[in-house]
Amino acid sequence: MMMAIIGGGYVGLILSACFAKMGHFIMLIDSDSDKVDVINSGRSPTYEPGLDEILSDHIGRNLIATTCYDRIRESDVIFICVGTPPMPNGDTDLTMVVSASRSIGEAIKGSQRYYAIVVKSTVPPGTTENLVKREVLKYSDKSDIGFAMNPEFLREGHAIEDFMHPDRTVIGCNETRTGELIELIYKEFNSPIIKTSIIEAEMIKYASNAMLATKISFSNEIGNICKRLGIDTYSVMKGVGMDHRINPHFLDAGIGFGGSCFPKDVASLIRVAENLGYDPSLLKSVMKVNEQQPKIIVELLHNKLGDIHGKSIAVLGLAFKKDTDDTRGSRAISVIRELERAGAIVKAYDPLACRNACKEISGLKCYSDAQAALKDADACIIMTEWPEFSKLGAEFNLMKSKVIIEGRRISSCSDVEGICW
Ligand code: UGA
Repeated sequence: MMMAIIGGGYVGLILSACFAKMGHFIMLIDSDSDKVDVINSGRSPTYEPGLDEILSDHIGRNLIATTCYDRIRESDVIFICVGTPPMPNGDTDLTMVVSASRSIGEAIKGSQRYYAIVVKSTVPPGTTENLVKREVLKYSDKSDIGFAMNPEFLREGHAIEDFMHPDRTVIGCNETRTGELIELIYKEFNSPIIKTSIIEAEMIKYASNAMLATKISFSNEIGNICKRLGIDTYSVMKGVGMDHRINPHFLDAGIGFGGSCFPKDVASLIRVAENLGYDPSLLKSVMKVNEQQPKIIVELLHNKLGDIHGKSIAVLGLAFKKDTDDTRGSRAISVIRELERAGAIVKAYDPLACRNACKEISGLKCYSDAQAALKDADACIIMTEWPEFSKLGAEFNLMKSKVIIEGRRISSCSDVEGICW
């Protein structure tokens, strides 16, 4: 099938690479010419295990990146994968979705072909029908266009595996022709396909991320209580997760959830509810617990060191989780901001994410390895579950004082205290 993917961000890139691997012909459109050049050289502009290999295999064969919308006229299906960043009040900024919809409309104007336009970007319920459809129809002056919403459930660091082996594929579509076309694309995956209305598909994505975020905040709340009881929350949640109605996943207590999705999507769902006149008190609490975890870890540090003003603190891990260089929404960034507010001197290290962290916190001092960051530090906070941090032991002797707190449960070193264990 000929497909156009609009947006060469994380989702658009994975989609392009994986569809190309499946044998489809892909045109990836992105307005950033530097990014397009990198992709066309067979490399990924963002880190994701396995992505470079697929790109270099398919680029120039059945995958090409371009800044030019004109060529989408040749495609059968057009996926919208542009970013939907948060606004300061939690609402979703749909500027890029609007602009992509207009550009698609203009590009397909006058064409005799039928097109299926599929929204992959995470958008507030109602966006595909009320905004994307309106703009595309207005600018294309065409009526034979189908619309669908097909949410993604890819985890950074596991995106290719998640794409190829989905738990389920959700196809939100209000008419048969487009629904069947999209179904054809996903048929070869051995996984259930659930067909819904467009707005239900949009809501499935929001509700899924809100559910996962809720599990994490719930575990953190139980963890904070267990810490005060002096018992091991991991042992408690193991017992809880063995109930098949609950399941053991996403029950790991710690510093909280980060990334470009959970914080943004829960905040957006809160705004959606409020705009409908409903007060989503549970979702607000999920966010509140998440915001409080970085403060708790800094409080623990205060309890051990007293005033941290002028003290040097090694922060190991800056990415929002392991296997990514992404620092968006990272709890490490929140903790560093708290530390800097209190006048501490931060010595940071991450195997992949230093460059991105420095873009978020100007002047952040990053070291080339954990040992360098630990040397002469008054305390250390472990923020990301990188396997190399679980092996640290003797390296802690380089510190001025051995105050070590972890926000993710990875260390077996007896000197390490956990945020909720
Ligand atoms: C998440 C979802 O898992 C994907 O299904 C979804 O497609 C994606 O958002 C999205 O909306 O695009 P991702 O943000 O890559 O994927 O990361 P996760 O692996 O879900 O982790 C999110 C955060 O929760 C991380 O900071 C992680 O450390 C934290 N977490 C996860 C916990 O604190 N405890 C857990 O038990 C699990």
